[in-house]
Amino acid sequence: MARRPFIAGNWKMNMTAESGTKLIKELIPLVKDADCDVALCVPAILIPAMTEVAKGSNIAIGAENMHWEPKGAYTGEISADMLKEYGVKYVIIGHSERRQYFGETDETVNKRTKAVLAAGMTPITCIGETLEEREGGVTEKVLDRQLEIGLAGIEDITKVVIAYEPVWAIGTGRTATDEQAQETIAYIRKKIGQLFCPKCAEKVIIQYGGSMNAANCKGLMAQPDIDGGLIGSASLKADFAKIVNYNKYFED
Ligand code: PGA
Repeated sequence: MARRPFIAGNWKMNMTAESGTKLIKELIPLVKDADCDVALCVPAILIPAMTEVAKGSNIAIGAENMHWEPKGAYTGEISADMLKEYGVKYVIIGHSERRQYFGETDETVNKRTKAVLAAGMTPITCIGETLEEREGGVTEKVLDRQLEIGLAGIEDITKVVIAYEPVWAIGTGRTATDEQAQETIAYIRKKIGQLFCPKCAEKVIIQYGGSMNAANCKGLMAQPDIDGGLIGSASLKADFAKIVNYNKYFED
């Protein structure tokens, strides 16, 4: 069964209700004929307004994080019910910026991923090595650890979207080459096959993320194991539509 490509934006701590509304209104007609699933993961406070703007379109609104507990004394956190109330379908979990700046660990990534699944939403669980780790030749070891702990105990792995985001490529303008991204993502798929089952691994959507843009998306998307992208800075402008239409804009 062919995997349906999935292009998701990650606004991070950018945009306001005003600028976000303007952008989504601009994007709606541009992405309406996409041959892939499309989502924009936005800051939690923007979810109600952006959901309203995107209503009736093929743009799903996602969140950038979620707590694993259903409720309680967790100042600043967002629960599954709060997201579900607005019809949120996707939640980014374990982004490298959460890991780097906010103490996210493989263990908390695991708890959050499982909580998103239990709530009937789709986690976009992020993994990826730092530059130091790649240069030190331990990329596979790092990915093994992130997958083994981060995905431990998940019943149906096909319900998880994995985003492979080499930390050295995020926001740096330094994209992994098509071959590097393909090779690493094929490795991740093989590892998922070992941890779960090879047949399930064939169904798992694995995105590439890290300076993906309108110019490099076609080559990345042409790789057999790359099923989509998690797009940061290029999702803050209408150019995002070109990535979504990666198979149309550049036709010969
Ligand atoms: P970038 O971010 O596209 O700006 O590199 C990607 C991400 O962090 O998800």
